[in-house]
Amino acid sequence: NATESPRLTVIGTGYLGATHAICMAVLGYEVLGVDVDEGKIAKLASGEVPFFEPGLPELLAKALESGRLRFTTSFEEAGGFGDVHFLCVGTPQQPGSDAADLTYVDAAVRALAPYLDRRALVVGKSTVPVGTAKRLTEVIQDLAPAGTDVELAWNPEFLREGFAVDDTMRPDRMVFGVASQWAEDRLRAAFKPVLDLGTPVVRTDLATAELVKVAANSFLATKISYINAMAEVCEAVGADIKDLADSLALDDRIGGKFLKPGLGFGGGCLPKDIRAFAHRAEEIGVGQAVSFLREVDDINRRRRARTVDLVRELLGGQISGKRIAAWGAAFKPNSDDIRDAPALDVARTMHGLGGHVRVFDPAALDNARRAFPELRYGDSALDVAENADVVVLLTEWSDFREIDPAALAEVVREKRIVDGRHALDAERWRAAGWEYRALGRS
Ligand code: UGA
Repeated sequence: NATESPRLTVIGTGYLGATHAICMAVLGYEVLGVDVDEGKIAKLASGEVPFFEPGLPELLAKALESGRLRFTTSFEEAGGFGDVHFLCVGTPQQPGSDAADLTYVDAAVRALAPYLDRRALVVGKSTVPVGTAKRLTEVIQDLAPAGTDVELAWNPEFLREGFAVDDTMRPDRMVFGVASQWAEDRLRAAFKPVLDLGTPVVRTDLATAELVKVAANSFLATKISYINAMAEVCEAVGADIKDLADSLALDDRIGGKFLKPGLGFGGGCLPKDIRAFAHRAEEIGVGQAVSFLREVDDINRRRRARTVDLVRELLGGQISGKRIAAWGAAFKPNSDDIRDAPALDVARTMHGLGGHVRVFDPAALDNARRAFPELRYGDSALDVAENADVVVLLTEWSDFREIDPAALAEVVREKRIVDGRHALDAERWRAAGWEYRALGRS
């Protein structure tokens, strides 16, 4: 019966999977979270969210208390339990290549399929190169005892870190890539409370659903690099990127979202998704159509180098031997994620040039310490600024915005600040006697 509430498994309990499993249980479904990582499963089962995400720990407690959310490392248990199986494993960039690494997706499908002995729907949520779903359909139907009674659908996920709960419970839209009406009906049953809010659904074929996701992330990355390219031009002529961006944003057709100039994008999604998309397009013979994504990537990388240049300029041409306070490590505020974080990239470059860099971040310090033990760290924004020759704001946490220029002036050696995210009020800092510099502004 397609309308009754299906039992769900969520395979892969990383960022996406844990959030999805917890939210679906809170929405009323029976959910089994599955992962090969016993440590992760143990943490989640004991009520601990293994990463920083506002609101999620409270919802995990609620879901566990309801008895509707359980965790396991057994694919056999998952196969027996679930009517709808969500694939939420990671697809990182392959080392030494731009291509996506599909090892985890393939392993998950091969581990689950032998236990699918009755009609079931497998739903891919991971970001994959177009064509993956078609290939996986064959693998699943080959390995599953129920054969073609097992169908595969693709339902890309658009959640943002820091807003994961809201994006999951109240998404802008849902994309259902399906091969049959039955699959669509099952998906509708699996998302009933979300659809009841009036969430628009776009039904597509599998390939389109795969593409929607990378097209969306590519568009967002392009928008950011576009404004950062304009910042490069502004720098050359002494114009002001902030005024330029504000003016563009007032045109409804352009809009101000993802048009914030600065140090550029990082994280576990945008950078690797544009590279994997460009790579996949080349493989299928349409490389030219998205070759501009290489340029988007290059513009983005140049912002990191330009930030280091600004610091050097402000220090009178020399980074070596200077004391540098680096504010921020996470790839964006309200996250502890340091994957491809522009902030740490800049901090490491300055360290490599002989600067005495000390880093502070409100949430990502532990992750940063573990990944880059060669850097030095401090306990607070003021702590790392002690006797600094320059302060460099790299991630726009509100904690940094709220710092009083006069209080900071008391601890630093020189009142110099580079604002890599246009997070501070330039007038206010200059009025307090600071030399203030930002990307794309004279
Ligand atoms: C991104 C997408 O926004 C989500 O829709 C998508 O689901 C997700 O990737 C994914 O594929 O899983 P996320 O990586 O959490 O989400 O972060 P964003 O909020 O998109 O920010 C990405 C980067 O762009 C950050 O480093 C941020 O600082 C930077 N950014 C963003 C800018 O430099 N300027 C802007 O105007 C906006």
